[in-house]
Amino acid sequence: MFNSIRTKLTATYIMLIVAVMAFAAFFLFNVLNNYYLAYEYSKLQGAAKVVRDLVATKLQAAPDVVDISNQAELVARQNNARILITDHKQRVLGDSVRVDGLVGTTLDRMEIARALMRFEDEAWSIQYSELSETWVMQVAVPVLSGEKVVGAVFISSSLAEVYDVQKDLRNYIVILILLTIVFAGFIGHFLARRITDPIESLTVAAEKMAAGDLSQYVSVRSRDEIGRLTKQFNEMANRLQESTRQLKDFVANASHEMRTPLTSLNLLVKSLREYPLEQEEQDEFLADIDQELERLINLVEELLDLSRLDRLAAEDTMMTVNVVPLLRDTLEIMQKRAEDKNIALDYNLAEKASAFVVPHQIKQIVFNLVDNAIKYTPEGGQINVNLVQEPNLLKLTVSDTGIGIPYDQREKVFERFYRVDKARSREQGGTGLGLSIVLEIVKRHHGKVWIEDGPGGQGTTFIVTLPRLTLPTGRIVNNH
Ligand SMILES: Nc1ncnc2c1ncn2[C@@H]1O[C@H](COP(=O)(O)OP(=O)(O)O)[C@@H](O)[C@H]1O
Ligand SMILES: [Mg+2]
Repeated sequence: MFNSIRTKLTATYIMLIVAVMAFAAFFLFNVLNNYYLAYEYSKLQGAAKVVRDLVATKLQAAPDVVDISNQAELVARQNNARILITDHKQRVLGDSVRVDGLVGTTLDRMEIARALMRFEDEAWSIQYSELSETWVMQVAVPVLSGEKVVGAVFISSSLAEVYDVQKDLRNYIVILILLTIVFAGFIGHFLARRITDPIESLTVAAEKMAAGDLSQYVSVRSRDEIGRLTKQFNEMANRLQESTRQLKDFVANASHEMRTPLTSLNLLVKSLREYPLEQEEQDEFLADIDQELERLINLVEELLDLSRLDRLAAEDTMMTVNVVPLLRDTLEIMQKRAEDKNIALDYNLAEKASAFVVPHQIKQIVFNLVDNAIKYTPEGGQINVNLVQEPNLLKLTVSDTGIGIPYDQREKVFERFYRVDKARSREQGGTGLGLSIVLEIVKRHHGKVWIEDGPGGQGTTFIVTLPRLTLPTGRIVNNH
């Protein structure tokens, strides 16, 4: 439980609030205390000064202690204090307490001594009185005759009232702090939940994902960091699901593609073994076997090409080369095949066109595109290959006067195993992988490939553009 962010946040929240409150209370308490004491001090000093004015003239010659005590008693009663009047030798000349008073004794008190020396600012103190069991404030003021100090008025009063108020205040503050802890606990818990609930949902989803259930979606409830994290998580889950699906589809498709030729082979071999066949028939069967095997080898080769594109093999190093000779080599071979089918293959290449590429992959693009053009163009057709170098890119076009590709399938034909006419493709020895290999290579070179109508609106034109300078890493960057 103490390992949860919620508890930690709530605890922090409570501690913070209590600390702030305690600090504020301490501060307030001190200010109030000082204020009360200052008030009490000035009240007592004021009262002492009233007595001083009353008795100032009476301290000369032979003082009348009864009269002086009367004056003291009058003011003392009003202020709930005790008042004593001394001469300059600290002998008591009047006391507001009449019975058992201190008249006649010498009162050796620091406050009086200081008042007599005219240190008026220091002539006061606060003490605990064992006798009355309360805190008491004492203040003394000098009595003057002209410039001469002739005596002092000493006043003392209990601070019980002040301290009672303080005690009440302290109790209130303690109760307030306790209430705040409870309140802050609730608020903190609620606030923490707002933060931790989405994290909790994310964690649960991630755990399910780790356990193999990839179909996770966590609803995004805010636009803050957690909201963004959640959005990214959903995106990631989506992609993972999608690529897993693609992988499964791919395996299913590949197996399916293999099954057809393997089934044929199986049948052919069985027939050869079980039935006595004429030589001519045997040769025909063997030719069929040969063809099916070729198809299988072709398929496996293309699958290997694809997987090599995924793996970044060591020989797939990018380098700056003139691609014209690469194209010319490939086209010369293709030209013979076109001729066999009575198709004219013409090409028009730039003098020199260099780019940062993987050479054998560029050859493969040209091979696959021209191979298709030959396959899907009837006899007597025309194929044109063009290569131009622009400042930033190379542009390769392969156009034919063949059967064309319907508009709505011009993106789909780049998918793995997708064929417009399956039977026709198979008849031509196609696997449906050629264009997906082209697309993969083009992507790896940060280029583009798309399909337009052929020359004169008939047939097909494939356009490939490759940036001349891609990332100078020496390796193809995997940018899935
Ligand atoms: N030049 C073209 N003319 C007409 N259709 C084409 C052309 N190139 C490709 N296609 C269509 O796109 C499909 C996918 O091409 P590709 O990936 O090379 O597979 P394959 O050639 O093995 O069938 C082909 O089956 C064909 O239907
Ligand atoms: Mg092909």
